Order: sequence, then structure tokens, then C-alpha cells
Amino acid sequence: MTTTPGIHRGLAGVVADTTGISTVVEETNSLTYRGYPVQELAAHRSFEEVAHLLWYGELPDAGRLREFRARESALRPLDRTTAELLARLPETCHPMDVLRCAVSFFGAEDPTEDDGSLAANRAKSLTLLAKLPTVVAADQRRRRGLDPIPPDPDLGYAENFFHMCFGTLPDPEIVRCFEISMVLYAEHSFNASTFTARVVTSTLSDLYSAVTAAIGALKGPLHGGANEAVMHMLDEIGDPARAGEWLDEALAAKRKIMGFGHRVYRHGDSRVPIMQEALDRLVARAADPETARLAALHTALREAMLTRKGIHPNLDYPAGLAYHLMGFDTPVFTPLFVMSRITGWSAHITEQLAHNSLIRPLASYDGPGQRAVPIAS
Ligand code: ACO
Repeated sequence: MTTTPGIHRGLAGVVADTTGISTVVEETNSLTYRGYPVQELAAHRSFEEVAHLLWYGELPDAGRLREFRARESALRPLDRTTAELLARLPETCHPMDVLRCAVSFFGAEDPTEDDGSLAANRAKSLTLLAKLPTVVAADQRRRRGLDPIPPDPDLGYAENFFHMCFGTLPDPEIVRCFEISMVLYAEHSFNASTFTARVVTSTLSDLYSAVTAAIGALKGPLHGGANEAVMHMLDEIGDPARAGEWLDEALAAKRKIMGFGHRVYRHGDSRVPIMQEALDRLVARAADPETARLAALHTALREAMLTRKGIHPNLDYPAGLAYHLMGFDTPVFTPLFVMSRITGWSAHITEQLAHNSLIRPLASYDGPGQRAVPIAS
């Protein structure tokens, strides 16, 4: 999207640095984390194993995984002050704002906030990985007028999250589909929120500040906020038979269709097929008329978008409807993305610090020419 020679609006096409964490190979439609295809990781590995891979560069063996899980589960509870503070936030504020406040608060409480050493940052990352689900679950329950459910250290990451949200464990198929979404959302190179985290880190600010800023970047509907926006859009359309007509009107009004398009993938997001398969399993399992309507609408809009604009869905399109079918409230969808992407953000923060250079681009000035300040007589 180069507008004027030498100017790369939106940094489109700009290679800003190197990274050893993940890469998107558009030509082969693949995404790898530390060299492993994300499709294989989603099919065969847990989210905790993928978090370990992103942070330490390798998948854990059985012993290391046991230790990693034990450390994570011990950190899940919120202290009373944090729980009370978050419960005081107005219910009118978005759950992403609650998460942003929570991370800021964790930073303010942590006496090692400004210790940017690798060991300290790894400890902070694990704390956030463990505590963010507790915040999200308590916030969803609060909005439903329910008391929080404390974490269960004997449950795995995904099972514990469902337990804290709903007080019960769903069908293992639902937990598996959730875990697949967590693996797929975990990391995606220099996307807007990760780059934001790297910009903040490049000033030698602390990890909590970088993550707080990244949450702000992810909230927008052109980035992570799209998974929530997908559900609002499906609600707005309603009837599958109206999908084509609705799309024509929306495109004529120059609206962006949520969950479609991608800055890097021009021929389809490599993560979509595996998330779509998971969504199809959720739809087949539910087998009720309301789910059938939503699935038909979802398919009709995807096909209409491909026919009209040749634009493919991105991960947010199947993930949005999948989260709805898993029972989550729509405003919580982007916080679920945060719970996963905290792994990628943290990996990038430590990588940025390992070979830091202040991120500070130039701008081509197009304002008024130099002029004298009028002096009052
Ligand atoms: N709806 C309608 N038109 C679109 C869409 C869309 N979702 N995506 C791209 N286009 C069109 C643009 O209007 C533009 O058309 P034009 O050349 O006639 O003006 C053309 O395709 C190129 O699009 P750009 O906006 O230049 O693509 P860019 O790389 O800047 O944007 C983005 C990528 C922001 C993701 C865009 O596709 C979009 O807004 N999508 C909807 C929001 C969304 O789903 N975001 C989630 C991203 S993935 C993630 O965060 C997991």
C-alpha cells in the first residue's frame, strides 16, 4: 500500500526486524511457530506445550511440561485486592478494558515491575498466562450476576477456564475446539498488537506496560476486535437468505466486512481450515435449528464475499461463531484472544530486549511551510 514513493503507509511491506519466533509463508499458505507448522501443533499439542515452545524455543518433555503446568496452576488465583478492584469497574466498560486495567494493576503490585531481566520477564509472562483467564471468567460471571468461581489447580488450562466460567466441564470435544483456537491465536509475527508491544519494549519500558499497550491495539475491530464484530454482524444479518443482499448493501456503503481479509495472506489465512473444521464439529454436535441457522448464515456470507470480492475469511471468522457455540458471551471473544496471544507478545518482548534498538520511524512532513508566529501588538 505504498502511497508516495518511499512512504509505506501502515508499514505495509516493510520488514522492520528479524524474528525467530514465527513466520508466515504466504506462497505455501503456512504459519510456523519455531519451525513447527501451526496446523500440526493444533492437532497434536496442548496450549501449555505451545506456550512453552514460544517462550523457550522447544516443546517441553514430559517432566518439563509437568513442572510448567504446576507453576502455571499455582499462579491462577487473584488476590483479594485485585478481585475487589476489578469488581468495582463499571459493567458498562468493555471486558477488554477490564483486562487492560488488570494488567496495569498486576504491574503496579509487582515489586520487580522494572526488572527487565530474562528471568523476571519469564516470571511475569507466566503470571499473566495464569491469571488472565481468572480475570476473564470472573468478569463474564459478574456481568451475568454470578459470583466468581475460584480456579481448580487439578484441572488443565482449558478445562479450568470452562470450570471458572460455567461451573461445569463441557463435552471434551468443546474443550478440544477451544484449545485449538488458543493454539491458533497464540502467535503471528509482527501483527499490530505484537508490534505495539515491541515498540513499547524498545524504549526499555516494562513488560506490563508493553502488554497493556498490546491489549489496546488488539481491541480494535481491524485486529482482534474482529472476532466479536463477526458475531454482531451475523446478528445484524439474521436470515441466511439475506446474506448476499446484506453484503451488497454493506460493500456499497464501503463497510469493512468483519472477519475477512488480511494484510499478509492474500489467498486465505492458513489458520482458517483447521478452525473451520473445529467449528463444523461444534455445529454437528449441537444439531439444533438455531445453530443450523447460524452455520448456514456463516457459510452463505463467506461464499458471497468470495464471489463478490474474492476476499477470504481470516481466523476471526470461524473463531467468532465457534466461541458463541462454546457458550461464551460475545464481548468476551477478544479477551479470549488476549489469553492466547499473551504467549506471543511475551516471546516478542524478550526477543526485542535481546537485541534492542529503539523503534522510531521517520515521517514525511506535509503540513504548512515554516511561518512566523504572529505577535500580539
Ligand atoms: N471488507 C471489505 N473490503 C475489504 C476487506 C473487508 N474485510 N478487506 C479488504 N478489503 C478490500 C479493501 O477495501 C481494499 O479494496 P480497494 O483496493 O478497492 O480499496 C482491498 O480489499 C485491500 O484491502 P486493504 O484495506 O488495503 O487491506 P489491508 O491489508 O490494509 O487490511 C485488514 C487488512 C485491516 C485486515 C482488512 O482486510 C480488514 O479491515 N478486515 C476486516 C477486519 C478484520 O477482519 N480484521 C481481523 C484481521 S486478522 C486478525 O486480527 C486475527
